[in-house]
Amino acid sequence: MPVYNLNVNGVPRTTPDVPADTPLLWVLRDLLGVTGPKYGCGVGVCRACTCHVNGQAVQVCMLTAADVVGKRVTTIEGLAPEGGLHPVQQAWIEEDVAQCGFCQPGQIMQAAALLKSKPSPSDADIDQIMNVCRCGTYCRIRKAIKRAAAT
Ligand code: FES
Ligand code: FES
Repeated sequence: MPVYNLNVNGVPRTTPDVPADTPLLWVLRDLLGVTGPKYGCGVGVCRACTCHVNGQAVQVCMLTAADVVGKRVTTIEGLAPEGGLHPVQQAWIEEDVAQCGFCQPGQIMQAAALLKSKPSPSDADIDQIMNVCRCGTYCRIRKAIKRAAAT
């Protein structure tokens, strides 16, 4: 079984021996202790596991460690500078978005990626976000994205 040298949240990390087909989500959560990305479906649909790879939002349940060797993996833990909050996280607090919270790391990572590519997203742009929230926080997510865009 191979080991992998990864860059997770700006820190070099080496995995233990891991079967090559292990989803990156499990590598992050179970082997490296990075538990912000959540397991919802495991098949690329719910997007609770959304992280950034080289700044792009991706579903890490659909990748393996080999897929991200030589790339920058950013999870919710590494979104903001140490000790601070990313503007999206601040907006999330001000709009009191979270309910149970399970989907929220993925929602925030998706929103942060959207704002990077579209600093003033339209409603149609926000509608393109496919992250599932079983608590139905979608209205507050929309408000928070707009608040973050304004700041
Ligand atoms: S757990 Fe990755 S998309 Fe659902
Ligand atoms: S806040 Fe509960 S699933 Fe989204």
